[in-house]
Amino acid sequence: GYLSEVGASLVDEKLKLGIVPPTGVVELAAPTFYYDRIDRAKARTKERIQSRYPNIGRRFHRIGLPEKTGSFQLFVKGYQDAAHWLRTWVNQPETAPPPVTQREFQFLFEKLVALDYIIRNTDRGSDNWLIKYILADVIDRAPVHNNDIPCDPANAKPQVPGDEKLIDLVDSEVIPDAPLGSLHIDDPAPAEVEWADVSIPTVDVAAIDNGLAFPFKHPDEWRAYPFGWALLPQARIPFSDDIVDLLLPKLDDTKWVRELCEDLRRVFKNDKGFDKKIFEKQMSVMRGQIFNLREALMKKKSPYQLIQMPPQLMVEVKQKKKKSRRSRNAEYEEAPNYDSDASAVHSASGNVEPEQQPGPSTSTAGPSTSSEAGASSIGSKSWQETYEQKVQTKLPFFRWW
Ligand SMILES: Nc1ncnc2c1ncn2[C@@H]1O[C@H](COP(=O)(O)OP(=O)(O)OP(=O)(O)O)[C@@H](O)[C@H]1O
Ligand SMILES: [Mg+2]
Repeated sequence: GYLSEVGASLVDEKLKLGIVPPTGVVELAAPTFYYDRIDRAKARTKERIQSRYPNIGRRFHRIGLPEKTGSFQLFVKGYQDAAHWLRTWVNQPETAPPPVTQREFQFLFEKLVALDYIIRNTDRGSDNWLIKYILADVIDRAPVHNNDIPCDPANAKPQVPGDEKLIDLVDSEVIPDAPLGSLHIDDPAPAEVEWADVSIPTVDVAAIDNGLAFPFKHPDEWRAYPFGWALLPQARIPFSDDIVDLLLPKLDDTKWVRELCEDLRRVFKNDKGFDKKIFEKQMSVMRGQIFNLREALMKKKSPYQLIQMPPQLMVEVKQKKKKSRRSRNAEYEEAPNYDSDASAVHSASGNVEPEQQPGPSTSTAGPSTSSEAGASSIGSKSWQETYEQKVQTKLPFFRWW
């Protein structure tokens, strides 16, 4: 419910994703909310007494409808359902983002994937994420130039070297006879030339409606709750360096993961029916998701390959209890060698090379040798030392991908 909305916003903030509109817990009353007859009648009676007998009314703790606790999310402007833009880009290719904007979109998409995967969102249809796409402005003024200089911005290059009149060297450090290619785009333009204003389309993504996430067990029977983005072409592109750099240092750090769980505990404790044991299960699912995502980032899998990975539980175990707790949950079995990639060999669509040595703990002791990107966290214990890993053995009855 609403705490899941707030939890998603917290995960977004902690990972510095910036795709969930800030969401907090508030208490509000409004006549448009749902109230049962008794609440409405009480409020009416109190208001009547208050207006007729103000002295008595003053003693009331509260006049009006009772406050309700819920989540309150910032309303973002200029966005449309993701389906709208995804469809438009296919049907009217001339509106599709140019490569630079496409890369920007891919990074945002990867952030959405990471968020949904970590919180195990079970309700991410294409109506539950929004895209803001602002097409490039039409060039609104013709380029002005004094000389016969080619003005097509695509061909625009700093002008003829040696012609000191054209090159206005504001920065004395620029070497006049440096090769053309070494001048940067943001170097001052020649004084006599006014360049055309060319704007690049901008894109933004908002992940809304995060109320159905943080399950206490992985979807197992009957429904797999597919991620709505799973079949998009963007999901077939391997995770970018940018997303690896943003996320892996955090996901690799068990201290960071522990902090995240503690922060979420503070949010979820707002629930009247907060149950410690259920919460621990929710965190085990989430840590299992984080563990898989970490692995997928290290191995530069695609989002599509990520969601093929077998679900994990990462259970926090007190050292002395470690032995006695084993395999209590019949639907999970302890991973023998702590390798979350056990099934990747047959599920991967050929792009990913099977692990050379599926030996123990390439994935837990620290960032795998196949990737340079991970930062092993000094002062934090490894995943292996901290959590007991369980791999789900029962698979969903229906799978959509
Ligand atoms: N933070 C927001 N900023 C801007 N628009 C929003 C925001 N949250 C929701 N919306 C708009 O409201 C619509 C419904 O919101 P949401 O998906 O959260 O509710 P819902 O309970 O799923 O409603 P529905 O059953 O109609 O889908 C969204 O499709 C979106 O257009
Ligand atoms: Mg919705």
